[in-house]
Amino acid sequence: MEQIQIDVNTSSTEEKTVLDIKDLSVSRSGKLVLEDINLKIKSGEFVGIVGPNGSGKSTLMLSILGILKAQNGSVSIYGSPPMSRTLIGKIGWVSQAAANMKKDIRITVEELVKLGTINAKNMFFRSRKDQSAAVENAMRMVGIEELRSTDISKLSGGQKQRAVIARALASNADFILLDEPLVGIDRNSRNSLLKLLDNLCHDEGKTIMMVSHDLAAIRQTAHRMIFLEQKIWFDGSSEKFPDLNELANLRGIQHVHKHVNCKEEEE
Ligand SMILES: Nc1ncnc2c1ncn2[C@@H]1O[C@H](COP(=O)(O)OP(=O)(O)OP(=O)(O)O)[C@@H](O)[C@H]1O
Ligand SMILES: [Mg+2]
Repeated sequence: MEQIQIDVNTSSTEEKTVLDIKDLSVSRSGKLVLEDINLKIKSGEFVGIVGPNGSGKSTLMLSILGILKAQNGSVSIYGSPPMSRTLIGKIGWVSQAAANMKKDIRITVEELVKLGTINAKNMFFRSRKDQSAAVENAMRMVGIEELRSTDISKLSGGQKQRAVIARALASNADFILLDEPLVGIDRNSRNSLLKLLDNLCHDEGKTIMMVSHDLAAIRQTAHRMIFLEQKIWFDGSSEKFPDLNELANLRGIQHVHKHVNCKEEEE
């Protein structure tokens, strides 16, 4: 008689810890920028990071990527330290600088996305067929297939940002970090980009961590919000995110409007 196989691991994948930061402190040029950060992110979460200028948001991202070293504490991604070989291809990084590429770079959308498939793991283990399937899939996920032969310089801000996200997806990354991806793009593109990111979480099971100054936009999309200013002052569901006065109280500050740069409304 044929035996029916039941995958007992199915339910646990939902709960998988993607990122586990313990007591992390990071200094830059002798100044303490992050202090005692504790943060756990599970698979499928969409986490928004907000905070004033210079509050350590990008520093946190760079520490997760392993580019900055921890003074204290630890960062673990899928159970491994940053930069581990086991993490190759698992993390996608989308920086603001990536969308502001030089105008004179001559590269098509498809070529840019293909660059995302190039890393040590893929070069040795991926066939050409797999590679082009990954490129096609990534372009489809962000809806830029029709622009495949278009030069990057000809794209709008929103289209460029999609192309850069597709490049991150082409590596088959499950954990995607974005630093200010909404800067310089119009309201419509911003909304469709947020919807795209939300779909990537729901439909593709991606885990997303996104830094943005646009508090209103991020609050309506992210499931979970973190307010960072050297320390984590708030970490909870987006509906419970405090208003600016409450945040000021949390941080023991009287005139929060002079310090917080988060926009309540864009334009
Ligand atoms: N290369 C560097 N060397 C030394 N200090 C730095 C460096 N880069 C940033 N800093 C300092 O670290 C602190 C945190 O910077 P970080 O870029 O992480 O802030 P941020 O929250 O991303 O700010 P923004 O919203 O402006 O992007 C700031 O005080 C900044 O001056
Ligand atoms: Mg920054």
